Amino acid sequence: MNLKDYILEAEQKEVAIGHFNISDMAGLKGIFEAARFLNLPIVIGLSEGEAEFFGYKQAGAIVRSLREQYDYPIFLNADHTKSLEKIKEAVKAGFDAVLFDAGKLPFEENIQKTKEVVEYAKSANPNILVEAELGYLGASSVILKEIPKDAAINKEDLTKPEEAKRFVEETEIDLLAPAVGNIHGMFKNAPNPNLDIERIKQLREAADIPLVLHGGSGITDDNFIKAIEAGILIIHINTEIRLAWREGLNKAFSEKPEEIVPYKLLPYAVDAIKNMTEKRLRLFNKL
Ligand code: G3H
Ligand code: ZN
Repeated sequence: MNLKDYILEAEQKEVAIGHFNISDMAGLKGIFEAARFLNLPIVIGLSEGEAEFFGYKQAGAIVRSLREQYDYPIFLNADHTKSLEKIKEAVKAGFDAVLFDAGKLPFEENIQKTKEVVEYAKSANPNILVEAELGYLGASSVILKEIPKDAAINKEDLTKPEEAKRFVEETEIDLLAPAVGNIHGMFKNAPNPNLDIERIKQLREAADIPLVLHGGSGITDDNFIKAIEAGILIIHINTEIRLAWREGLNKAFSEKPEEIVPYKLLPYAVDAIKNMTEKRLRLFNKL
C-alpha cells in the first residue's frame, strides 16, 4: 500500500494520519517509535529549512531504510517547499509527497506555479502526491506571542469553497491545505484560535480531494475531533515536536550536568518526542 491507499483507509475509518516534522534523528526515532508502538502509518515531514539541515537525500535514504527494515508504512513529505528547484531535490531523493507552498501568492499565480510543480512531479514519479496551500497560515513553527499579522484567521480571509474547487480542478493536485482558522505555531499558555469546522465541511465537499490540516500544535482536542469528523485526513504537527525536543534536552542537561556522551543525552529528547507523538496519534486515531 502506498500513501494514497493509507489516506483512503483513514477516510473509511474516519480517522486522520499524523504528519510530524523532524530536523534530526532524535525526532525521527521518537516519532517512529510512537507510530510502531501503536501500529499506525506515519508521515515524516521536512520543510525546506529542516531538509537543508538534514539533507534531502539523507532523509530519503533513512526513511526508506526504516520502511524496508521494519516493513513499515512510514512516508516522507517535502513540507512547505517554496521553489520548483527544491521540489526537484525532494522528488529525486524519493519523497512520497511534496507540499508546494505558494499560499502567500495571489490566487492566479498560485495556480500557475502549482500547475508547473504538478506537471514536473507527476512526470518524474506518477505515484507521488502533490499538495498545495490555499490561504496563508503564518510562517513559523515557534512559540507565538501574537497571531502572525498576515495569517488568515478572519472568516473573510479563510479559503473559499468556490476558489478551492477551481484551484483543484486547474492544478490537479492530490491534497489541499486550506486556511480554516489554523495557524503555524502555538501559544505558551493558551490554546490556538478555534477552527471553522463548517468551512472544513464545505471545502471537503467543494474540493473533493483529501484535506490536510496544518498548524496542528496548540489546537484543542475537541477541535481536532470535529475537524476529523468534518473531513480532515492528515494533520501536521511541528511546534509541539520542537518543544518536546527542547524540554527533553533541558531535562537531560539538568539531570546529567557532567555527561558528554550524545547517545546518553539524546534519548531524553527521543522519549519526550515519543510521548508527545503517541498522545497526538491516539487522538487522531480514536484510540
Ligand atoms: O507543516 C507543518 C505544520 O503545519 C506544523 O504546524 O508547528 O503549528 O504544529 P505547527
Ligand atoms: Zn504547515
